[in-house]
Amino acid sequence: MGGSLLPMLTINHSNCLSARVGAHGLEPEMLVSGSLAWDRAARATAQLNASRGTGWEVWRDLANNPARGAHVSAVRALAGPARERFENVIVLGIGGSALGNIALHSALKPATYNLMDRARRGGPRLFIVDNVDPSYLGSVLAEVRATDPTYEKTLFNVVSKSGETAETAAQFMIVRGGLAKHGRALKDHVVAITDPTKGTMRSFCDKEGIPTLPVPDGVGGRFSVLSPVGLFSAAVCGVDIEALLDGAAEMDALCSKGDLDSNPGAMLATLLYELGGRGKVNHVMMPYCNGLYLMADWFRQLWAESLGKRFDTTGKEVFAGYTPIKALGTTDQHSQVQLYREGPNDKVFGFITVEDFGDADLTIPTGMGVESLAYLEGKTLSALLNAEQRATAFAFVESQRPSFEIRMPRVDAHHVGAFIYLWEMVTAYAGVFLGIDAYDQPAVETGKVATFGLMGRDGYSEWKDKVEAALGCDSPACGCGA
Ligand code: PA5
Repeated sequence: MGGSLLPMLTINHSNCLSARVGAHGLEPEMLVSGSLAWDRAARATAQLNASRGTGWEVWRDLANNPARGAHVSAVRALAGPARERFENVIVLGIGGSALGNIALHSALKPATYNLMDRARRGGPRLFIVDNVDPSYLGSVLAEVRATDPTYEKTLFNVVSKSGETAETAAQFMIVRGGLAKHGRALKDHVVAITDPTKGTMRSFCDKEGIPTLPVPDGVGGRFSVLSPVGLFSAAVCGVDIEALLDGAAEMDALCSKGDLDSNPGAMLATLLYELGGRGKVNHVMMPYCNGLYLMADWFRQLWAESLGKRFDTTGKEVFAGYTPIKALGTTDQHSQVQLYREGPNDKVFGFITVEDFGDADLTIPTGMGVESLAYLEGKTLSALLNAEQRATAFAFVESQRPSFEIRMPRVDAHHVGAFIYLWEMVTAYAGVFLGIDAYDQPAVETGKVATFGLMGRDGYSEWKDKVEAALGCDSPACGCGA
């Protein structure tokens, strides 16, 4: 008990069990056939298998035909020529319209991708600008203009399902101005990914003749990475998007199984839900692989925005949710681990490890001649990295801190696709267990409409008044003293 061998990812949850972490873990009999958790998971699987492809669960079918075939061919038709023609691709988006792209690029391309010459890169440089910090967008545009002063070889990939998001709209308007200044037609330098039929971005693109790809109906931002939202920028950079979707489809099949012990999505959700009920409400994702660190950023949005809900589906106030935290091994062993072992015992740790780093692995040479360092000689860096992870898992057991491990054989498109789909399923299961709607985000609306009010959007002035009534006046020039 405590582990399951999957065709592609190995998940080991032994360190979540009471045999390892005492009262801070789960009794193994809680997870066997006939247990409450087993029956709850079986009911949730039946529910999710019935609702897949409907409502906001259209994401479940992104890795399967017909959606898959349609998306892959539409993405390739635009990404293939863009890969040849452009030297720079700049993605403009935020939240679910950027985090997946960032995670895919970081996992599947070298950290030095943009520093490589064109021949070694094989495609354009990629910049994903997911904020309106002016120094951020400004520095990316300045860098691009240093080698492409009139944007001749630059493509902007604007991603916004609604087309209403202030940050993405503002970025896009700046870019539109820059292209116009150099006499560049939007339709030749922009690919937009937006709602297929409605919304501000859709009507603007139709009017301007800008090529578009769809964010399909029934696919919310944080579940959209396996749609054209994530596939386009990945394909432009040469990621094998079919392998990505193959991995997701394989995980989909596993996560549709009725038995808890053969369904990794149901099992991880059960562990986190049961441990959450025992006060382990902070969930740390700790990859031992720099390329997967930003996958933990993508996970944070998925977990936080999907599960953090004030009301359950019956309207009862529940204040549900868990706080997702990202950490990096081994780096955070020298930073966070002190707190993790001796601070509040309110966390579950998910280690993400990699079996084989392939050609990237390095061997530590012999001949240093220092006795105290001789133990490192002839070892690979991956052996050191994975020994440190195992040592940390041991140290956590010593402190009675529950943890699990997801091991990837290699970081490639297939395994990353499986990993993404796995966490989307864990989130769907956790939503069912918590009895909340995992697909809405009502709490982010207030900030959005208040921003509209503060920025002077017609019809939103009442929000400016509300902000000032609550926070006082923030204009130093006003002198009202509020
Ligand atoms: O997950 C979500 O729904 C959000 O994070 C959105 O992706 C984000 O707010 C951006 O929205 P849009 O794509 O409409 O610009």
